[in-house]
Amino acid sequence: MERTFIMIKPDGVQRGLIGDIISRFETKGFSLVGMKFMSVSRELAEKHYGVHKERPFFGSLVDFITSSPVVAMVWEGDSVVTSARTLIGATNPITSAPGTIRGDYGVTIGRNIIHGSDAIETAQSEIALWFSEEELATWESCAKSWLY
Ligand code: TYD
Repeated sequence: MERTFIMIKPDGVQRGLIGDIISRFETKGFSLVGMKFMSVSRELAEKHYGVHKERPFFGSLVDFITSSPVVAMVWEGDSVVTSARTLIGATNPITSAPGTIRGDYGVTIGRNIIHGSDAIETAQSEIALWFSEEELATWESCAKSWLY
């Protein structure tokens, strides 16, 4: 089953959007398999955004991600990597479509609420960077049939 890494950034946390964001992923039909509310070290932020280390915004991006707690999550489901990016919307909230998370809540590229892995391989490396195997649960023992 496909998995992706999702992080609610400091602005999303401070604006009280944790519940809404989780709700969007749940009601879409994805399954939460890992979640933690955490402070981010500079080392972790620099590794996570390592691909951007030569870009002019790298320093301010790392400052921002390490400035206050985030919610790190792993979500599971069919084509969840691509679908999560659709739910999240374009990088710049000015052009993110209404109905997407960034389109509904953001106006500034440097404060765009949420991160989602951009490809299956990126998702695998980001999940391994942020979570240990023991921190991830499975839904195997959940008999969804008797809930309804
Ligand atoms: P990127 O990986 O291009 O976007 P996405 O988060 O949609 O995968 O960029 C990572 C983050 O860097 C982005 O969410 C916000 C920040 N950023 C800026 O602050 N300024 C910029 O010009 C860009 C391209 C990104």
